[in-house]
Amino acid sequence: MVGSLVIFVTAMLTAAVLADEECHWNGQMTKGHCQCFSGFYRSDCSGDCGCNGYGTCKTDHTCECEEGWKWSSTERKCVWDCHCADGAKCIGPGVCGCKSHCVHGDCWNGQCECWEGYKGATCATFDPNSMMNKGVNVGMNLGGINYYSSEIKFVDALKESAEWVTQRTDRHEWNTQEQGKLHLRPDGYPASLDGTLVVGKLFFRNVGDYQPHSNYTLLYDGEGHIVFKLVNHKILKQFKGRWLIHFEPGHGGIFFSITKTNPQNPLRNVRIVLPGFEDRYEKFPFNPVFQEPLRRYSVIRFMDFLHTNGHGPEPTTWATRRKPDFHTQQGNSGGALEYMIQLCNTMGISPWFNMPHAADDDFVRKFAQEVKKSLRPDLHVYVEYSNEVWNGIFRQAKYSQEQGVKLHLDTEKWKAGYKFYNKRAGEVADIWSSVYGDSEKLVTIWAWQTGYFDYSRQVMNHLGENTKKFRAVAVTGYMSCGKIADKDPNFVDMSMAEILQHCQSDINNNYPKTWGKFLNMSSDHGLKLLTYEAGPSVSEGGAIVNGANKEEVTNKAIAFNKDSHIETAVYELLNKWNDVIAKAPGNSFPGGLFNYFASTGAPSKYGSWGMLQYTGQDPSTVPKYRGVQRYITDHFPNNPLGPRCSFVKDGALWFGCFQQGNKFQCGQSDTSGRSWAHYPDLHLTEHSFLVLDGYDPKLHLAYIRAVDKIGVNSYHTIDTRSHHAWKSLTANDYHAYLAYRHVTRRLPNGVHNGLAAPSSCH
Ligand SMILES: *[C@@H]1O[C@H](CO)[C@@H](O)[C@H](O)[C@H]1NC(C)=O
Ligand SMILES: *[C@@H]1O[C@H](CO)[C@@H](O)[C@H](O)[C@H]1NC(C)=O
Repeated sequence: MVGSLVIFVTAMLTAAVLADEECHWNGQMTKGHCQCFSGFYRSDCSGDCGCNGYGTCKTDHTCECEEGWKWSSTERKCVWDCHCADGAKCIGPGVCGCKSHCVHGDCWNGQCECWEGYKGATCATFDPNSMMNKGVNVGMNLGGINYYSSEIKFVDALKESAEWVTQRTDRHEWNTQEQGKLHLRPDGYPASLDGTLVVGKLFFRNVGDYQPHSNYTLLYDGEGHIVFKLVNHKILKQFKGRWLIHFEPGHGGIFFSITKTNPQNPLRNVRIVLPGFEDRYEKFPFNPVFQEPLRRYSVIRFMDFLHTNGHGPEPTTWATRRKPDFHTQQGNSGGALEYMIQLCNTMGISPWFNMPHAADDDFVRKFAQEVKKSLRPDLHVYVEYSNEVWNGIFRQAKYSQEQGVKLHLDTEKWKAGYKFYNKRAGEVADIWSSVYGDSEKLVTIWAWQTGYFDYSRQVMNHLGENTKKFRAVAVTGYMSCGKIADKDPNFVDMSMAEILQHCQSDINNNYPKTWGKFLNMSSDHGLKLLTYEAGPSVSEGGAIVNGANKEEVTNKAIAFNKDSHIETAVYELLNKWNDVIAKAPGNSFPGGLFNYFASTGAPSKYGSWGMLQYTGQDPSTVPKYRGVQRYITDHFPNNPLGPRCSFVKDGALWFGCFQQGNKFQCGQSDTSGRSWAHYPDLHLTEHSFLVLDGYDPKLHLAYIRAVDKIGVNSYHTIDTRSHHAWKSLTANDYHAYLAYRHVTRRLPNGVHNGLAAPSSCH
């Protein structure tokens, strides 16, 4: 009796599993037949040609491997195919490693690509004078990580995807709200999916219009079925674990869903790589189009990246931190520390970290230890407890009051709140200081309200002796132009020139007074003064507080934020801050930092906070961007805007851009590297020099960037065989082409082995 029951149950299970396994997870069932992925054969797809995702079956059931791969008759599968010089190892399909370890750089195609500020064949030599952001007192707040963010930070689009919704294959509902029924793995992917249950998530929402209509690569581990919705798309090639898909993203974005997963080998580690980046995405996870406009700043504040406002869970422990391999970087626990460190190391930019309001001591200590261990040693690290803990619209304000009352710091809630802030911010600063010793690299921050000076003075006075735990007071440097959008009924009828006058009057008359009071307060306590957020804030305050806005006021504010007059306002704001605060006696580093808010974001009734509206927008057309770059160029004229001599060697030939006489030229040399044939002029009016970033030997194209006087790039390619066809490219296309594995990229700064470089390069 017992025996037959067991047999019966086993038979049922086998039947259920069989439906999914009919094609052995090596294909998909369509109209009763298995459609095998490329590289598999037999009617049930049980035959494997060993293609490994990179080839198609031959008639003898071995594999015709793609370029970069070759058939190994011993391993009976496609393996990497490289032809590397000097015995270097293969590190990817057709990608050679480096002879020596890259000390402060990343190896690619046999060359070390140095981090900003390092040079030499192994990137071992530090040269601060080569850094574009050397000594610059402008920093930047990055945008948050969201499926609808217009800042495309990663080349794997799923890093900024939403959290899961649940659906049913037999129900037409957007979200059946069955998240509670999901069995999720630690990496966030479902361990199994019962019956008709489906998980899915959006990405590129509201920003699809700006994304390339081109070929993306889907990569995944494990076994299961994937379905895309909401987007025009065509699956061009389908291997197991690797699909090439032509997407035409639109405003609604893309919906990615997992309709089946094999519980024995769940579908996981899904990546959707932007066109061009399949070869490099793993080593170089950041979108170069996102990185480029950040290169001249000295600090990145990760407040939104870390999801500081409303950070979760409470309490925040080290075990709850976001890991790089989680299915998305979006969510209450913010982006992974590993990514922030990598971004700062490669770009030579100092990080500003906000510690979660409910983080325990262990979290703060482990975070600090990881930064101490992995951040390159020349960078500073700014540390702040939470963000705007006074600000009632954020959870951390309520939390600090709750904690303050619980600890009997005061019976009045608002006082208990600031007393808790002072206590906890001091403890957090102590933990970091204990990890960093008395290193001048650590900048501990104290920040309260900027709008009401007396309130802040009261809170700082309560801090008493504990001011010694901090190095700097941080305020805002916002330019509301006299709160003109909220207060002036004539705002909608004003000309842009009139609005600018209001901004200038505010800049000249009001800000120096406010900043001056904070400067005095800070120096009285032995602290420096800097900003945590700053920049234009012409928008309706009411919209942020309660969502109320007037359409015509919103439109006017957005128009001013895009208008050429705002370039002057931003430029003058920075200059005023510099004159009054950065240059004030006694307020030297770390004082004086102007930390702009924020890098990228779409304008709305809540404000036009993004300097750029979306990643890939041409910065030369953005007045706010131009205003800031002009300021940096004026005040840091000796900082380079890029390499003045750039060379690529392909086989025996050299390609290069450099100064010749009084103009910049690009060209190619004979094999001796001595005599150069110049390409025709690239007729641009504003550019100051040219950089050769790469050469594609298959297409015979050189990729050349023109850099103008304030560091804004335009992108070009020239056909090196005909020597005359220049073509302009978008930033997205330029960086996508450069990322292909067969492109030879620019040599690391300072390495011209075997080249008799033009005299201007010595
Ligand atoms: C996309 O893939 C198709 C099919 O392989 C190819 O014909 C097309 O040129 C590719 N497009 C781009 C932009 O690479
Ligand atoms: C700052 O302190 C100086 C010196 O005591 C004083 O002259 C100045 O008026 C103060 N500035 C402000 C804005 O309070």
